[in-house]
Amino acid sequence: MIEVTDVARTFTVRRRTGRFRRVRTTVRAVDGMSFTVPRGQFLGYLGPNGAGKSTTIKMLTGILTPSAGSVRVCGLDPSRQRTTLARRIGVVFGQRTTLWWDLPLRDSLALVRRLYRVESAAHRERLDELTALLELGPFLDTPVRQLSLGQRMRGDLAAALLHAPELLILDEPTIGLDVVSKATVRGFLERLNTERGTTILLTTHDLGDIERLCDRVLIVDRGRPVFDGDLPALRARADTGRTLVVDLAEPGPPVDLGGVTVARVAGPRQWLALPPDANPAAVIAALSARYEIRDLALREPDIEEVVARLYQGVVSPAAG
Ligand SMILES: Nc1ncnc2c1ncn2[C@@H]1O[C@H](COP(=O)(O)OP(=O)(O)OP(=O)(O)O)[C@@H](O)[C@H]1O
Ligand SMILES: [Mg+2]
Repeated sequence: MIEVTDVARTFTVRRRTGRFRRVRTTVRAVDGMSFTVPRGQFLGYLGPNGAGKSTTIKMLTGILTPSAGSVRVCGLDPSRQRTTLARRIGVVFGQRTTLWWDLPLRDSLALVRRLYRVESAAHRERLDELTALLELGPFLDTPVRQLSLGQRMRGDLAAALLHAPELLILDEPTIGLDVVSKATVRGFLERLNTERGTTILLTTHDLGDIERLCDRVLIVDRGRPVFDGDLPALRARADTGRTLVVDLAEPGPPVDLGGVTVARVAGPRQWLALPPDANPAAVIAALSARYEIRDLALREPDIEEVVARLYQGVVSPAAG
């Protein structure tokens, strides 16, 4: 569905250094990027601010031309075949809307239909379906400028999907949404991917989006991939293992078990750091043979922490 090969994109920026002096500097927004996305995949595209995610998306959709390398989307060259490609993909930028501010959502969507030349019966059917799934009913007749951010985002999703694209590209679609709107959008995207088979590329800073939805995570930093793999592989990159939280019958000194470090003690509760290769069942058995246990919880390494460490270059980059 997507084939990116050795792609680079630089920008020349002029910076004022004095009253009249300006220097030209080159920003390497994308710097040697290669990846492919097979049909049906739900890919999370992650990276710190300025990593080159939006620039990559702009090259995938044909808004920007690569400085080097090649991009193919649905077998097409996005910058040369932008209009043909536009009929096969849907794009949503969370930071701006493609809808008409002054028009009611319903009219905006009708204009989108003309733009993509969707036949009117097919349009009505899809509009009904999207209205139900995205719960647009209550505000279809409200002008776009009066919609809340979450309502507008659902409207934008409908606009991007009216022509039933094979590929949906999303740049931060959940930015600024409350937990309920986020859940609606996530549930919708999940169904779109599993039931319709739509390939999805999702850029987000919200790791909840990634954990809930993505088959694969591609993390970029300074225009290059630093991780490519699934969530378990990402977790495995943490040099910390899982944590066993135990509530003992009574407060006491840190438990004494070989291979286990007690990270924290608070009254009867203790946090045991397990080495990455430890078998939790064996640890629990050994623990319960010596101590009276009231409660137990096993925690995975925190994904936020793993990602933060990747961004800071603490975890060495390597293919996942
Ligand atoms: N039109 C442009 N002109 C000059 N520099 C640009 C332009 N677009 C992007 N850049 C620069 O390219 C780099 C990558 O920007 P990009 O918007 O792709 O990052 P991003 O990963 O989407 O970040 P964010 O998470 O903040 O959205 C940044 O250093 C940015 O300043
Ligand atoms: Mg961006």
